[in-house]
Amino acid sequence: MGGRPKTVVCRDPGALAEAVAEAFEAVVRDAGNDRLAVALSGGSTPKRLYERLAAAPFRERIAWKRIDFFFGDERVVPADHPDSNWGMAKRALLDHVPAAAYRMGADSGDADGYERILRQRVGEGRGGIPVLDLVFLGIGADGHTASLFPGTDALKERRRLVMMNAVPQLATRRMTFTYPAINAARRVWVLASGADKRPVVARCLAGAGDFPILGVVPSEGELVWWLDEAAAAP
Ligand code: 6PG
Repeated sequence: MGGRPKTVVCRDPGALAEAVAEAFEAVVRDAGNDRLAVALSGGSTPKRLYERLAAAPFRERIAWKRIDFFFGDERVVPADHPDSNWGMAKRALLDHVPAAAYRMGADSGDADGYERILRQRVGEGRGGIPVLDLVFLGIGADGHTASLFPGTDALKERRRLVMMNAVPQLATRRMTFTYPAINAARRVWVLASGADKRPVVARCLAGAGDFPILGVVPSEGELVWWLDEAAAAP
C-alpha cells in the first residue's frame, strides 16, 4: 500500500476515542504557540471522538483557540440536516469549545470558494498546496474515504484541492477534499470501528484491492490507522 500505515488497535470504540483524544491533545500541545489546521470527517466513529473531546478533561486542557477546523467532505444538505457533517461536528464538538471552524457548505456547490478559504487560512506550502497539520478520515465498507468513492471523477483530480464529486452509486453529489489536499498533510489519521469495517480493513492492510482509501499516502506526513478490535480482527 505504498508505505504501510502505522496501525493502532484499541479494545472497543470507547477506548479508540480515548486514545485518539489523548494523541490529539499531544499534537496540539507539541505545536506550542503555532496555529493548527485540522480537517474533520463525518461518520459515527469520529462522532464518538468529538463528544469525548468536548468533555473533561480534554475540553479544559486543549488550546482550542489555536485551532482552525476544516472539513474533508460534506453532503449537499443544509447545516441543520441530520446528514450534515458540519451539523454533527457542531453538536458534538464545535458548540462546546472556542475553536474556529469553516463549514464546507456543499449545498452552495462552491468548491473553489472553500479551496480559497483553505489557501487563505492555512497558507501555501510545498508546491503551492496548503499543508494541514492533521486530517481525520473514515473508511466506508466500499473503501471510500472523505467523499472519494470508487470509480468517481475526484479520484483522478491532481490539481484542485476541493471539488464537487458526482457519486452515481448514491445518486448524489458531495463536496470533498481530493488526494492532493489530503496527501500534503503532516498527519493523516484514519479511524474505523465495528465489524462491518473488518473486510475492507483486512483487504487494505493486506495490500489487496483497489479501494479509494489506498490512495491516501501522505507524501511526507505520517499515516496512522486507528482501529478497534472488531474492525481489526483478521
Ligand atoms: C461521510 C464521510 C465518510 C465516512 C465514512 C465512514 O460523510 O460519509 O466523511 O468518508 O468517514 O463513510 O463513516 P462511519 O464512521 O460512519 O462508518
